[in-house]
Formats: sequence, C-alpha cells, structure tokens
Amino acid sequence: MKAKLIANKNYVVGGISPKLYGSFIEHLGRAVYGGIYEPGHPAADDMGFRKDVLALVQKLGVPIVRYPGGNFVSNYNWEDGIGDKAGRPSRAELAWSSIETNQVGIDEFQEWAKRAGTEVMMAVNLGTGTVADAQNLVEYCNFPGGTKYSDLRRANGFDKPFDIKTWCLGNEMDGPWQIGHKTASEYARIANEAAKVMRLVDPSIELVACGSSHSNMPTFGQWETEVLNECWDQVDYLSLHSYYGNRDGDTAAFLACSLDMDNFIRSVEAICDAVKGIKHSKKTMYLSFDEWNVWFHSGEQDKKVEKWSVAPPLLEDVYTFEDALVAGCLLITLLKHADRVKLACLAQLVNVIAPIMTENGGAAWVQSIFWPFMHASLYGRGTALSCIISCDNYKTKAYGEVPYIEATAALNGSELTVFAVNRSLDEDVTLELELDGFGKLELLGHVQLNNADLKAVNTAANPENVKPSAGKTNGLTAQLEKHSWNVIRYKVS
Ligand code: AHR
Repeated sequence: MKAKLIANKNYVVGGISPKLYGSFIEHLGRAVYGGIYEPGHPAADDMGFRKDVLALVQKLGVPIVRYPGGNFVSNYNWEDGIGDKAGRPSRAELAWSSIETNQVGIDEFQEWAKRAGTEVMMAVNLGTGTVADAQNLVEYCNFPGGTKYSDLRRANGFDKPFDIKTWCLGNEMDGPWQIGHKTASEYARIANEAAKVMRLVDPSIELVACGSSHSNMPTFGQWETEVLNECWDQVDYLSLHSYYGNRDGDTAAFLACSLDMDNFIRSVEAICDAVKGIKHSKKTMYLSFDEWNVWFHSGEQDKKVEKWSVAPPLLEDVYTFEDALVAGCLLITLLKHADRVKLACLAQLVNVIAPIMTENGGAAWVQSIFWPFMHASLYGRGTALSCIISCDNYKTKAYGEVPYIEATAALNGSELTVFAVNRSLDEDVTLELELDGFGKLELLGHVQLNNADLKAVNTAANPENVKPSAGKTNGLTAQLEKHSWNVIRYKVS
C-alpha cells in the first residue's frame, strides 16, 4: 500500500507545551508503596525512593506528575501525610477499599519529584474537602513563611516553599462513584470559591477545573457549560479524561479509538469557545487531558484482590504490543491538538495502568506503552505541524471509515520528527514524505516498534520482549511495516 504525508514549515498547529508529556501518581494500589517508594529495597535512596524507578521515570522525560489522585483525592486529608511519619494515621481509603498508611504525603512527593526531574501537579479535595482545606494546602506548599501553615512546613524541615504551579480543582466530580460527587452547579460553586482563595494565597498558580470523566457521561456538555459559566475567570484549563480497551477482541477497531479522543477534544474545544463567545471574552480556555491511557486488562483480577490491605496489586494492566500502537495513536492525536491541549497526563506512571512496573523487593521494567511515550516526549517538542495525509481507509462499526495511517510531525529547532502508526494488520505501507520549506534535510534515523505477536508483553522474566528496532527509511521514502509505530527524524538546515 502507498501513502503520502505533506508537511510544510509554515503550516503550524501551535507550540507544543512540554506539559503534554505529563503523567500521574495516585495513592492507589502499588503506585506509591512498592512503586516509587520502598524503604528497604536494595535500590532505595536515603528517603526510601527506588532509584531504579527514578531512572526509568527520568528516561521518559516527564515534565509534570499529577498527585495524589484520582478518586483517592476526593476523601483525602492532606494533613494526614505531613510531619513526623510515626505520628501519621492509617486510614480506611474508601475510593479503592485499601489501607492508606500516609507514609508518603506532599512533603515526600515534592522531594521525589525533584529527584525525578519533574514538577508536581497537585489536586485538592473538593469531594469531602472544604474551600479552607484547599486554601491551607496552598499556604502550606507555596507561602514563604510567617503564617500557620507555611511555618508548619518549615517546622517539618522544608524552609523553602514547594512552589507548586499547577493545581487541579478536585477530580472527576461529575462521576457518581466519586466520594462527594456533585451536580454541575454544586461543583461549579465550590470550584470557583476554592479557586478564588487559592489564588488569593498565591496569585501565580494555574488552575484546572474538572470537565467530564469521559465523553459518554450523560452530563457531558451540560457539565462543561455550567462549570465554565461559573468559573471562567478563575480557571486556566478544563480537564478531559478517557480510557480505551480492546474488550471485543477487535484489534482493527481498537486501533481506531484515537478517533474518539479526537472527537472528544474537538467537542470540548467547541464548548469552551461557545462559552467564550457568550461571555464576550478574549481568554482562550486551554484543555488538560489529565487522564488518558489503555485500561481494561486488570478488571477481573482486581475483583480477586483482598480489600483493606496496604498497597494491594490493583489496576496492574499488563500491556500488549497492540496497546502500544494505541498509545502511539493517542499521542499523535494530542499533538494534532497542541494548540489547545496544553497539558496531558498518561495515567498512570508506576504499577497502576503504567508504563513502568516493579516487583516488591525485586526488579523494575518497562511495558510496551513506555516506548511510544518516551519517543514522543523526547522528540515531539517545539512546534506541531499540520500535516496532510493521503492514504486508504478501512471500515469499522464503532468509528466508520478509519485511515490506515495516523501521523503527524514536530519541528524542534533544527530537528524535524515524523510520527506515524500503520494501522493495517496485513500490509506494509510505503509512505512518501513531502517535507516543504525546511531547507536541506538529513535523515537522522528511523526507529520503529513492531512485533509479530500483537499480544506480546514485557514481564519481569522477559523485560525486552517488546522493544524498538531500526526502521527502514531511504531519504524521503519510509517503509511502515504492518502494525507498527514509527519515528523518523531529520536534521534541517
Ligand atoms: O486512573 C485511575 C482512576 O481513573 C482515577 O483514580 C480516576 O480519576 C479515574 O476514574
């Protein structure tokens, strides 16, 4: 099969925010305990953080990590997780029916983030929490000193403010499963008031309001409109969440799920712009896609996990090679909307629906989805280009006509990178690249991720079963093998 991609230096989508490559650590399962933190592990550092995990996180180049939830945050008292560890309470954690020991809290997590070379995106509890709790947390984290909570931070050993810039106003408050679930108008009121006081404590912060938990929520659309109507002046981003799975065993359709993400983003953009119009506002509301991933493998296994235990193995999806192709398509989709999606979080980072896995007391390794994320994070920087792609389509029940090629390009200084997924399960594609206006082009390399077995996985025993290999590009003609993720890089001058 043949296909063509045209990119021109002057056809630009927008600047790519580095925060497009964010991730997420929730107090859920073994993400924190046994994931990033395991005192006594041979690789633990002076604070109990696993250095093997830190090294893999650093390799991903994650610029921001959302914390501490997720559903967890909606019943979380952040004051449980500060100060002397011996005095911290254990709690019945109701979102995931586990025991939370509070041995890690914001004091530790901000330190972990520094060591990982990332920044914290902090969520406040707007489920059971109050406006005052949100105010106090910002004061604890960001106020220099001379007040109750800033002095408490200093007494806990952190003289300098944590200076956390990005804050989520709750989590998935539209979802009936959420502790403290609210109607749109109830949420809009508390989010607006919390935002107001949080900004009074620190005017430099940026705020994310909850959008819908996914596009199939019955309140989708109406929720966004009502929240934005109330909170327009106080917030910088509206959130989107979406997870996908190959539940019917239909890989061709599964590979097309990025069309759903694309449609979701377009719809939320349209709602934001409609509210902007009605308000006669000049402000652009940005989108924070702060939970996205494949999530469906672990469902049955989670039902067998013992309730009320500490750090149980929950949501430990073992990702197949085809999941990595989907992750690649989703990353390309985010890049195609780089003008409006200025923040995104792969949910999550370690053990819980994650690119990085660990054994308690044992090894750390990377899952299949690690690779497209790492490639996009390393090379998908700078400016997103608006590419024209001509290729054949195939038909699916869920998404109608689907192009075989999902692709885009990014220009970062003197480097031009083309990202492409060949969705065909049967045919290689010869992709002709027409790259205009970039001057002299020198091929730097073509890396692909492919595997003869769509269900291939990495495990502790076989951690390199799914890994990148060299692709075949000759000048401006790239060979995209059937079912493959491809990264083709040029030096431009
Ligand atoms: O990421 C797992 C869960 O998915 C989060 O806790 C919640 O926000 C979402 O429903």
